[in-house]
Amino acid sequence: MKITLHANLDETQEFLALGVFEDDKEVYGGYNKDLAKDLEEALKKKLFSREFGEQYSTKISSLPFRRILILGLGKKEEMSLERLRRSLGKIVRQVSAVKLQKVATNLPALAASARHLSEEAISQATAEGLLLADYNFSKYLAKERQEKRLPLESVSIQWKASAVFEKGLKTGRIIAEAANFVRDLVNEPANVINSVYMEHVAQSIAKTSPKITVKVLNKPDLERLGLCALLGVNAGSANPPKLVFLEYNGAGANAKYTALIGKGITFDSGGYNLKPTNYIEDMKIDMAGAAAVLGTIKVAAQLGVKKNLVGVMALCENMVSATAQRPGDIVKAYNGKTIEIGNTDAEGRLVLADALAYTEEKYKPEVMIDLATLTGACIVALGYYAAGAIGNDENLLASLKEAGMQSGDRVWPLPFFDEYQDWMDGTITDLNNNSLKAKGREAGAITAAVFLGKFVAKAKWVHLDIAGSAYWTIDNDYLQKGATGSGVRVLSYWLLR
Ligand code: BES
Ligand code: MN
Ligand code: ZN
Repeated sequence: MKITLHANLDETQEFLALGVFEDDKEVYGGYNKDLAKDLEEALKKKLFSREFGEQYSTKISSLPFRRILILGLGKKEEMSLERLRRSLGKIVRQVSAVKLQKVATNLPALAASARHLSEEAISQATAEGLLLADYNFSKYLAKERQEKRLPLESVSIQWKASAVFEKGLKTGRIIAEAANFVRDLVNEPANVINSVYMEHVAQSIAKTSPKITVKVLNKPDLERLGLCALLGVNAGSANPPKLVFLEYNGAGANAKYTALIGKGITFDSGGYNLKPTNYIEDMKIDMAGAAAVLGTIKVAAQLGVKKNLVGVMALCENMVSATAQRPGDIVKAYNGKTIEIGNTDAEGRLVLADALAYTEEKYKPEVMIDLATLTGACIVALGYYAAGAIGNDENLLASLKEAGMQSGDRVWPLPFFDEYQDWMDGTITDLNNNSLKAKGREAGAITAAVFLGKFVAKAKWVHLDIAGSAYWTIDNDYLQKGATGSGVRVLSYWLLR
């Protein structure tokens, strides 16, 4: 998709998309009298209102465009980067529905007229909204069906030539393309993507930048080092467990590391606590945290982020077999804590426990952020439009929440009350991976984080539960059903802040 700037509305394009605020007096009378008349009539006949989300499609014979779409933008003071992305997403959907590929629009300029948004933020969000909305996972469809959906070819933005705007577009493109790369990985099935595949992807990302080094702990290393919580989860799988590290050096040898740790369960059957029908089908997505880590390291390298990062992927497959872990088994984690396996389906916390403890000891990071499709309870609590965030440092939590709001890839704090801190304690072991205190599923997202917290010694740490945000069963304006790339956008904004 080519995105270009054009001082006026570019009449060489096929499709024109314009916005109107509720508070706008004049509606395009200065641009084209016929359009203004048509719009006024549509408003009078209530075919269209200027509330946010309203759409009106028309065609004006005195204008060269094959279609014109008018979008209601709501109140000017309520304009936001997210409303801009969503409006651009609506445009991409409409253009695609009428099988056109070339668009001209003034939405970024209208967002700028709201005056509380910066030029660079607007341009970045513009690229994000367009590229995320144009994403499509169609590789397994026959050519004829693939070709029914045309990708956007060019978007001409009404904006005077500007280096700042171009810079924002470039940043937004890098972030959105990384998110789309993660969506591809998460949408791929588990018979394609396993730990070996994920390691290869890490190696190929490292080849694109001299600042990235990949290190891998394979099964013999994990056994030697005693990462037995992770090993237990993989015990039933024909694929090998791996702990993959992507070291990104953006700040020289003396700067402290920030660790980004992703749950990479390439398939979560539940193990002997087997998931039932209607719960097991989408469990190829259980590596979305690891994929988001890859995507974020890619962004950091492309944007030259001046920080030292270590991206960690805890790769396993949770399967059933004669060698699989049993409920009631006891394992000892890397940090020496013993864990009774109360439920083989609570496997994410087990692999992350070892990944957190090992990474902290090895890299002494100042900050650790883990990303995991960890609990169904988090989806119950927050739905799709935010990841749950829990941690031990209020400033880190606040900065992530802020980055989430700016990026549209929201993270929302859940409480880490004292009362829950012993809810994961075991009876014959230090810990149980399934709460013995909970009667049912209450506070499931919180107690999972309590478990993880027992494997963090002194780093500032935040856990992001992306179970709901990483994979949607609903469409919205610029993201569709399926993988969303959640994690990449919030972490990229956070790294750039
Ligand atoms: N991977 C799942 C969580 C999940 C559920 C992610 C739905 C995405 C969509 C996780 O491993 C899991 O099974 N969690 C259990 C924990 C329970 C056994 C304590 C859950 O949430 O039910
Ligand atoms: Mn599970
Ligand atoms: Zn899982």
